[in-house]
Amino acid sequence: MSLGQINREKWDKIFMISRQSGKYNKYPAEHIVVFMAKNYYKAPSRDKIRVLEIGCGSGCNLRYLCEEGFKVYGIDHSIEATELSVEYLKNSDCTAEISVQCATSLSYEDNFFNVCLDNNSIHCNTSHDIGSIFNEILRVLKPGGKFFGIMASDECDEFGKGKKIDPLTFDFSQVKTFRGQFDGFPIIHFFSKKELEELGSRFSYYQLEHNLYTLETGSNRSPLCYWFVEFVK
Ligand SMILES: C[S@@+](CC[C@H](N)C(=O)[O-])C[C@H]1O[C@@H](n2cnc3c(N)ncnc32)[C@H](O)[C@@H]1O
Repeated sequence: MSLGQINREKWDKIFMISRQSGKYNKYPAEHIVVFMAKNYYKAPSRDKIRVLEIGCGSGCNLRYLCEEGFKVYGIDHSIEATELSVEYLKNSDCTAEISVQCATSLSYEDNFFNVCLDNNSIHCNTSHDIGSIFNEILRVLKPGGKFFGIMASDECDEFGKGKKIDPLTFDFSQVKTFRGQFDGFPIIHFFSKKELEELGSRFSYYQLEHNLYTLETGSNRSPLCYWFVEFVK
């Protein structure tokens, strides 16, 4: 079985359990709300702003985007996740176009989206697949369209743990860490500044914000670092 299939099956398992237990993420990511508010709340017709979420999971961000009046699309390679997203939006009378797709090869035409969003999804891929995902983002965004992503940084405490898949990507299937954030993930990629600068240089503008939180309990000190990444085509 390929690494991609193992990854997809893992996410299917996670979302199957979430659906059965009713315990899944119901709220949008704060920084996605901030990004959308800053950039698109003043748009004259929000329904003309096409927004794609890559790896939509439970649909928590899709629902927020629909409620704010945007034209919303969500993809996920997990069938269970997409079914959960459809269910979650149905309960709130929201409509989005949700489909099962791998972000390495999107079905949309060139220059289709005003916005592509990612919260903790792209970093669940290998360096090779991340290259393909950004080729696709660049292709499907309109000129002037924006990408905003929230991604793990190589300054996280967990960096380097687990089995190395490539220099920045690890298999955390057997990993138990202090915070447990990525434990059990078959693929977790920690972005370096150099890598993001290289990806960003393919766009007309890029902005990298590095967010570091440190959790300390007695002798345990656990830095959690995320990149908030903005690219403009
Ligand atoms: C940590 S969850 C985040 C879900 C959602 N973005 C949120 O904010 O709650 C990661 C999601 O990314 C999806 N994913 C990871 N790699 C993907 C890929 N290559 N193509 C499509 N979906 C992917 C997983 O199936 C999973 O639903």
